[in-house]
Amino acid sequence: MTDIGTAGTFKLGDRAVKRMGYGAMQLAGPGVYGPPKDATAAVEVLRAAIESGVDHIDTSDFYGPHVTNQLIRKALHPYPKDLTIVTKIGARRGLEGTWNLAFSAEELTSAVHDNLHNLGVEALDVVNLRIMLDPHGPAEGSIEAPLTVLADLQRRGLVRHIGLSNVTSKQVAQGRTIAPIVCVQNQYNLAHRGDDPLIDELAAAKIAYVPFFPLGGFSPLQSTALSDVAKKLGATPMQVALAWLLRRAPNILLIPGTSSVGHLGENLAAAALRLPDDAMAVLNRIGGG
Ligand SMILES: NC(=O)c1ccc[n+]([C@@H]2O[C@H](COP(=O)([O-])OP(=O)(O)OC[C@H]3O[C@@H](n4cnc5c(N)ncnc54)[C@H](OP(=O)(O)O)[C@@H]3O)[C@@H](O)[C@H]2O)c1
Repeated sequence: MTDIGTAGTFKLGDRAVKRMGYGAMQLAGPGVYGPPKDATAAVEVLRAAIESGVDHIDTSDFYGPHVTNQLIRKALHPYPKDLTIVTKIGARRGLEGTWNLAFSAEELTSAVHDNLHNLGVEALDVVNLRIMLDPHGPAEGSIEAPLTVLADLQRRGLVRHIGLSNVTSKQVAQGRTIAPIVCVQNQYNLAHRGDDPLIDELAAAKIAYVPFFPLGGFSPLQSTALSDVAKKLGATPMQVALAWLLRRAPNILLIPGTSSVGHLGENLAAAALRLPDDAMAVLNRIGGG
């Protein structure tokens, strides 16, 4: 079994977590709506992640809704002391699985309580405020009102640390005037590199950057250059995509998602894959970097 600690750690709030973690979104049903086809298999994936040394799991109560958090509780409660569970608020699922913004004080407060209840904890380790003003990606706009609500919930002891998701550099700067921000979670991978400058800014501020869709999301990355590098290194394309992220910046924490124990093992093994400079050069050209 790979020692995932070989990829190092980075501070997430008051704890250092391993840079290789796990994203639980794929455990809900199709379209992240409803229960999975096989709940036993989902529980097995979560337990296998912990047995392999994962100490950082990303989730949300709007996955399902409620389903993913309930599976995490069923599989892992009482939680290992060193496990950091990161959740997110700011959306509400509508009928047929639509994703709706939910930024009122009432909605944010009830989202925190739903997460506490379904995860079975008294305080949430990290809560990301998910700002999805434009479904195509981060868009400018004040985040003061919802973040002030979340900061108040933090003062009340319900939330230990705050992060932001789907945000611009300006919004991170605004956020940091309202509350300490420990992580940013935006879409980023080998082929989607709009956040290159933001990652460097956050690294300088010692804030974790947690890319979502690290493997390309619902349609995993496909590239001849990626496959060629993987073949040369005796690895899989998905492993190379993850190893590239680990080498891209020291503040990057990975949360690749999967509903399969086999894919989980493959992804975690990327923690030990070191990419040589010539492979990095080829991979950097995929996203135009
Ligand atoms: N903040 C936000 O707005 C936001 C948005 C999206 C996601 N997230 C978070 O980010 C996490 C990661 O994103 P994600 O799960 O959507 O996307 P991802 O990690 O980029 O990719 C997941 C997809 O890749 C497949 N996959 C995983 N490992 C594989 C492997 N070794 N070989 C081939 N296919 C593989 C999975 O299918 P299988 O299940 O078949 O393995 C799934 O279809 C989520 O779990 C969630 O916690 C956050």
